[in-house]
Amino acid sequence: MEAFFYNECFPRSNRYDAQWIAKNQMGPNALWLAEWLMEKFELSPGMRVLDMGCGRAISSIFLAKEYDVKVFAADLWIAAGDNWVRVQEANLENRVFPIHAEAHALPFAEGFFDAIVSFDSYSYYGTDDLYLSYIIRFLKPGGKIGIVVPGLQSELTGSPPEHLLKAQSNGKVFWEPDCYTFHSAQWWRRHWEKSGSVKMELADTMVDGWRHWARHEYAMEASGYGIFPSDEETLLEDAGQNLALVRVIGQRIVSEDSARTLRGPDPHVWEPAFMNVCARLMSSRGK
Ligand SMILES: C[S@@+](CC[C@H](N)C(=O)[O-])C[C@H]1O[C@@H](n2cnc3c(N)ncnc32)[C@H](O)[C@@H]1O
Repeated sequence: MEAFFYNECFPRSNRYDAQWIAKNQMGPNALWLAEWLMEKFELSPGMRVLDMGCGRAISSIFLAKEYDVKVFAADLWIAAGDNWVRVQEANLENRVFPIHAEAHALPFAEGFFDAIVSFDSYSYYGTDDLYLSYIIRFLKPGGKIGIVVPGLQSELTGSPPEHLLKAQSNGKVFWEPDCYTFHSAQWWRRHWEKSGSVKMELADTMVDGWRHWARHEYAMEASGYGIFPSDEETLLEDAGQNLALVRVIGQRIVSEDSARTLRGPDPHVWEPAFMNVCARLMSSRGK
């Protein structure tokens, strides 16, 4: 089992129990994605970090252990109680705090986090043009947000190529409609830049990301813990022509010029409190 998940490019991840990794995996290796983000993302001991869409919280446990940070492990599909069991087993009760949360209704104080990270999750909600300006409010000014998502080498110009749409020998078709949330590093750069919420630090693709992704698919299948049929065949056929792992890092803007992007007097349009702004506007119109 250890051999399946061993990857010379991710030495920190290699130190974790392979069965634990396999049992708790929900995407293309949360530990590898976290380790790759951390090549360009800085966390200092004691920082408060939001791990958005943490799934089974293995990336949260990894970050708490490796960087001595306090991680708020927020997720929708996995109950906080399930993650709490894993946190207790890892003896991290004072450093990882599981929370059941929906990405558009986060139960945190504004400016609470020193950093926000997300692995194989942000594309479920973050392609919306309104999202970055929402989540960024929970980050202290000057704090950084970093994500890693499955994505594309470059944007599709028409339909996905045939090899992504055809059934593999195990019957699984890689490309589902949800895959239209896959985007290139350039797309993410523009998406975040135009929000006016962050100063872009980085948007790139993992070198040989498709190989690592395929290797992970193989490892999951071989471990017997895979929850979905393997996508290895398509990834190998694609060979990085289209599919990629994309990393994006930005810093919450603090300059005077960009004061409009910091929290103004009004809540975000998604916050229930925005109804008070609406009521104020409506009543002033009536005068
Ligand atoms: C593919 S899983 C990845 C989980 C984990 N980060 C990992 O890499 O193993 C995507 C995660 O995103 C979370 N997610 C998707 N939509 C969400 C939403 N609207 N609010 C909060 N979490 C969401 C799901 O709960 C799920 O655990």
